[in-house]
Amino acid sequence: PEKYAVIGHPIEHSKSPTIHQAFAHQFNKAIIYEKILAPLDGFTATVQRLQAEGFVGANVTVPFKFEAFALCQGLTERAQAAGAVNTLCFLPTGLLGDNTDGCGLVNDLLKHQQAPLAGKKILLLGAGGAAQGVMLPLLEQQPLLLTIANRSLDKAQGMVAKFAAEAARCQTRLEVQVMSAVAQSYDVIINATSAGLTDRPLDIPAAVFQSTGLAYDMMYGRETPFMQQARAAGMLVADGLGMLIEQAAEAFYLWHGLRPDTAPVIQSFRLP
Ligand code: ATR
Repeated sequence: PEKYAVIGHPIEHSKSPTIHQAFAHQFNKAIIYEKILAPLDGFTATVQRLQAEGFVGANVTVPFKFEAFALCQGLTERAQAAGAVNTLCFLPTGLLGDNTDGCGLVNDLLKHQQAPLAGKKILLLGAGGAAQGVMLPLLEQQPLLLTIANRSLDKAQGMVAKFAAEAARCQTRLEVQVMSAVAQSYDVIINATSAGLTDRPLDIPAAVFQSTGLAYDMMYGRETPFMQQARAAGMLVADGLGMLIEQAAEAFYLWHGLRPDTAPVIQSFRLP
């Protein structure tokens, strides 16, 4: 069978093998999908080994997405925009890098959260790697307004500058805010900060959470302070499980040319 892998550090917790095996099962395909712990200074060597061993593709997770980006000979447009790679294809011509994270987020919002984005007002919290990874796919949905709110304004300004032309093409008003100064209400609020790893609430005015829309945390596996803040204010709340499974589905499509049915896989992860 064809060989695939997910490379990270740590990697033990990764759900990717289970997800990809569930997708393969839908098409009666037998695949090998391994979890690979790369040493922090050994990402390149790990990729070279997989290439030599005939692997077809690999997913890349924390902290190697930027190194993967630098290593690729070819990059998709969305990987270039993200500045990071989460999906590798070992081609005869070299290493092709893609980034399916943003597409995964958008597909979860549209397909499973009933949260349309076209013509809507979106608030994206954070301006790090996770936020940049979803910028292009969000803009491609042609929202009316995309506000990037970050703790430090300069970092958000730096990120937004890279997407000014794309925003103009999509007729989206792209603006930057300090998180503590966000004033209006939004249809969708997306948390792309890494603050969910802590227990401190985000420094966002409570009024922002009075929106009638959806509060979405890209993190999966824990009820973050952001989710608690939004829930307490009565918003609809979602975690990043659907994004995780949709980004995997897009990688699966890249490798196999087949579109898996994601809903039952999401369901199976929600079961207690
Ligand atoms: P990632 O790859 O997860 O995006 P990153 O590139 O280090 O990680 O970016 C982390 C993001 O989370 C940044 O936007 C950071 O804000 P700053 O740019 O102001 O540092 C944001 N972040 C982290 N902890 C936060 C907190 N406690 N409150 C608000 N924002 C936080």
